[in-house]
Formats: sequence, C-alpha cells, structure tokens
Amino acid sequence: MTSVSAIRGQAVSFAGDPFREASATCLVHHEDALVIVQDGRIAAVGPYATTRDRLPAGVEPTHYARELIVPGFVDAHVHYPQLGMIGSYGEHLLGWLERYTFPTEARFAVRAHADRMAGLFLRELLRNGTTTAAVYCTVHPGSVEAFFKESERFNTRMLAGKVLMDRNAPANLLDTAQRGYDESTALIRRWHGRGRQHYCVTPRFAATSTEAQLETAAELMREHDDLFLQTHLSESEAEIAWVRELFPERTSYLDVYDHAGLVGPRSIFGHAIHVGEEDLCTCHARDASLAHCPTSNLFLGSGLFRLFDALDPRRPVRVGLGSDIGAGTSLSQLRTMGEAYKVAALQDRKLDAVRAFHLATAGGARALHLDDRIGRIEAGHDADLCVLDPHATPLMALRTERSEDVADLLFTLMTLGDDRAVRATYVAGECVYDATRRPDPFRYPDAAGPSGEPG
Ligand code: GUN
Ligand code: ZN
Repeated sequence: MTSVSAIRGQAVSFAGDPFREASATCLVHHEDALVIVQDGRIAAVGPYATTRDRLPAGVEPTHYARELIVPGFVDAHVHYPQLGMIGSYGEHLLGWLERYTFPTEARFAVRAHADRMAGLFLRELLRNGTTTAAVYCTVHPGSVEAFFKESERFNTRMLAGKVLMDRNAPANLLDTAQRGYDESTALIRRWHGRGRQHYCVTPRFAATSTEAQLETAAELMREHDDLFLQTHLSESEAEIAWVRELFPERTSYLDVYDHAGLVGPRSIFGHAIHVGEEDLCTCHARDASLAHCPTSNLFLGSGLFRLFDALDPRRPVRVGLGSDIGAGTSLSQLRTMGEAYKVAALQDRKLDAVRAFHLATAGGARALHLDDRIGRIEAGHDADLCVLDPHATPLMALRTERSEDVADLLFTLMTLGDDRAVRATYVAGECVYDATRRPDPFRYPDAAGPSGEPG
C-alpha cells in the first residue's frame, strides 16, 4: 500500500557544491515550497503554487508558516556511548581517554545500559534535527545491537560499528584481532543493509590496534560490499608522536592506515587536523573522507582543522561535519557550524552560511558516499528533513527581523541556533520528532502510541 503525505513551508536545499561554484547558483530556495512524500521518498518538490496540483485528493500538507525546511543534518563523527560524559573537565586527548572515556565505555558491557543510552542518544540526535550519523559504539557487540535496534525502530539511516581495540586500553575494553574480526563479521551479517542500517568497521585509532588488527579490518572491508570504515587521524600532537613510536617504519599517521589497506572510498577519518599536503593528496586520490569536528577540537585544545585546504578545488577531499560527542560539546549541527565558522576565522578565512549548511547536509552526505539517497530535498531522495524555527528564542527573533536574505537567515541560525531551533524532524517522511507534541515529542514511525522514555 502506498502512503502519501506533504509538508509546506519555506525551504532550502542544494543543487551544487558552493565550495566549487558560486553560492547563488548552488542554493535552491523556495519562499513557499511543497514537498510531497510517497513511501518514505520525496515524490515532488517545488513552489507550492505550481506543485499543489500534484497532491492527491484528500492529502492536506502540514504547513510550517514561519519555519524553514532543510535537509536532515548529517553528523559524520560521533560516539553514542560518550553522551553522558560530555563536558568532562581538564584534559587533552590522551588524558581524557584514560580518565573519562575508557571507564565510561566499560559500562556498556551491560546490555541494559547500552539499550538505555542508545534510546537517549537517538532521541537527542532527532531533537537536533540530525537524521544520519556515523556512530562509534564500544568494543562490546551488545552496544552495536542496542544502537541498531533503536535506529531501526526510528527507521533512521545510520552507520555504526563495534570499536576494535587490541592494545593500549584497559583489559576490560580489549578484544583481539581474531575476536574483533569474528564479532564484526557477526554484526555485519545481522545488520549491514538491513533496512536503513549500514555497518561501519571501527578500529578506534592506530594507537589502540596492532598492525594485525588493522589488517583484519581491511579484510572485512574486502569481504563485504559497501561497508564503511571510520577511525581517528592526526588529532593531537601527543597522539601523533605516540603513533610515530608505535609505527616507526610508516611515513605518516595516514600511511599506517594506508599500509594496512584502510584508505579508500567510504573510509571516514575523524579530525585530520595535523596532516600534510601529501596525506590530503592520498585522501583525494583514494576518495576517502574527513570529518571536521570543531567543538571537539576547541574543547580538547587539539588544533584548528584546515577546512579550505582540505577542500582545495585542485584536489578536493570529501569533508563532513562531526559533533564528536563526548569530546565535542553539542550534538547540534547548528552549533557545530557556528564553531566551524570560528575555527575558520582564527585562520583568517570566512565560512559563509551557504557553505556551512552544505557541509552539514549535502556535503556530509557526500562525505559518507550517501549523496544519491540523502542530504538534499530532491525528488527521489529519502524524505529526511529538519524544520527549523528562526524565531525560537527572543534573541533569534530579534536578529531574524533584520535578516536581509536567506543567506543571512541561515547565518543567524548557525550563529544563535541550537536544539531549541528544531521544530520537527522527519525520517523517511514520518514526523518522528515534533517539539510541540505532548506528552511525548517522539514517535516511532509505526508505533500506535507514544514511544516513552527509554530504559
Ligand atoms: N581518539 C581515539 N579515541 C577517541 C575518542 O573517543 N574521541 C576523540 N575525540 N578522539 C579519539
Ligand atoms: Zn571521535
């Protein structure tokens, strides 16, 4: 049985890449758009006046008169188990991992804890308008089960995987190369390509995997079609020095992964702050992607990502934006864009709002090699949408009154906005989050009643 629904309101999407063409030709803006959804996909989109005659009889659009409809946000790098340890004080990366992260992740040995945190995390993502994310679980297979199970309930398109770590971490968080391979294989068979779930092979970083484990990760990539890979790369100076000691024969941090066969399409490297031109050329040549995580990089004092270098049109690398919770300080892609602006400003560059929103939507989708499915409001694409309210706070309303054009409106949203600005989130055409819905703003797509508080 086919189901048709529609939403109406001001809308913004992309027809091109504003890092390669003039922003004005890339931005698709309708003052009053109609988005028609059929069976989870966008069937038609255009000005209301000329698209309304395509609405089947009896279908009444949900009308957002003062809001702005944008593609659902894409978070290219986030750790769901770290949600509760956000804002942990006083350490650089390696100390922060030892003191806060490992003890927090050890709790995911208990499945009930993983279930509860997966429920809370998915709801936080949706409350922030994020509909797709590349998600690190923990070393425990149950943490992955918990995550995919909840994502499947919401029908969100998600990438996730079991963390692989066979050295340099507490004993209760270690696997072995063989065990990591076996557990990943079982999870891939169970979840990869099931509905909207994608498996992402997840060696944490070079310092916590032996060469043997990195090689089994590459074996997994060869054995299954369309798998993703995520790991960390060149985030802090101390980390880089440590990796150099552990792999003295490799020419760079990226070369450790490259030597193991892990740099290719659908490989997503988090951070990549301190990388040289040669590594960027390798990423370009292999079609690998980088996740820029500004709130995390500022919070831990890791450094400033060279966004415009990475995107240099002479050898562009695919880049998405990551929240990197719990080193990052917000799950909001609006906040993340705002901080990316400041990271660029510290390097004397300006990240305009059209480019920032592209990074958080269509660009993020491209970084995940999912741009044929998500990231734009376009016929044939999944109907994953976020409805933003530019008047969400008194200050936003005041600033929005002065907005001269849509680019300025977007800039106001990314400078002042956060979860309060998200009015609703649609997943495959279903309104799974509506900030005004009571008593529970969340709803599973096929659930008869409210989803309730998890756990
Ligand atoms: N490097 C290795 N593990 C982590 C992690 O959990 N967070 C961040 N930010 N960097 C890492
Ligand atoms: Zn991370």
